[in-house]
Amino acid sequence: MKIFTTRSEIQQHLTASGGKTIGFVPTMGALHQGHLSLIAQAKAGNDVVVCSIFVNPTQFTNARDLEDYPRPIDADIAKLEAAGCDILFNPPVTEMYDGNEHWHLNIGQLEFLLEGEFRPGHYQGVMQVVYKLLDIIKPTTLYLGQKDYQQFMVVSKMVEMLGISVQLVMCAIERETDGLAMSSRNIHLTPVDRQHALILSKTLNWLKNNFNIKNVFQLEQDAMAMLQSEPGVEPEYIEIADGKTLLPANEQSTSIVALAAARVGKTRLIDNVVIV
Ligand code: PAJ
Repeated sequence: MKIFTTRSEIQQHLTASGGKTIGFVPTMGALHQGHLSLIAQAKAGNDVVVCSIFVNPTQFTNARDLEDYPRPIDADIAKLEAAGCDILFNPPVTEMYDGNEHWHLNIGQLEFLLEGEFRPGHYQGVMQVVYKLLDIIKPTTLYLGQKDYQQFMVVSKMVEMLGISVQLVMCAIERETDGLAMSSRNIHLTPVDRQHALILSKTLNWLKNNFNIKNVFQLEQDAMAMLQSEPGVEPEYIEIADGKTLLPANEQSTSIVALAAARVGKTRLIDNVVIV
């Protein structure tokens, strides 16, 4: 695997191998099977696979969270090598930002719903870095996880609004055998938190199994009560949304997804299930 830390070197390399299809998997590292499943899908569909590892400061709303974000770069490199990734882009912060720039793209309500309400500014930071990464790598296809469902919608909206030439693929959520969605943040869970955290996937599955569009309000109330009754769990939201707009689901919704966020101990977790 080739590793680049500057824009100019990776761009030079990619231009020299022009004409090949490029599958791109952006990450913040601390790689797990979820990330590696995106690499596998990118590998299956493209000539070249590029992964980026960049803990993007502009998408963190909390300085402590940014500081605490795990950065096991040697282990990540070994995992990418084993997965057959061709190129890693691992720039320092100074390579991506000159410290004096502003980004804002008005994507409407999508920015402020769900995650947006609890992490103000987060999606502007995500768009800012994904825009820069797409501009550097110019991939044929961008692979993103369903785990961050709203992030996928936000990036799709940006790509559409700015007319960026890239295909988007949403990859299914990889889970531990007991149902916990894999996440780089799971390493912060104590063994006790880890058990309590299961309530998230359990409740989302309960919603899926009991879903009835005429009963959305009551289902959401019951689901919230299930999360609240789990010790050590502080739910932020659990909502049944239209899969295309993320507004509340209604009888006209052709795709429906249930999404949840909660603090478990000191760790903030998100999860979702596609209902229809
Ligand atoms: P990160 O949290 O590292 O996630 C990188 C990619 O892996 C995202 O597309 C995410 O949805 C996907 N992913 C995470 N957990 C997954 C799981 N359990 N199953 C399947 N896919 C999973 O998302 C980000 O980084 C950043 O916001 C980024 C897009 C890189 C911009 O900084």
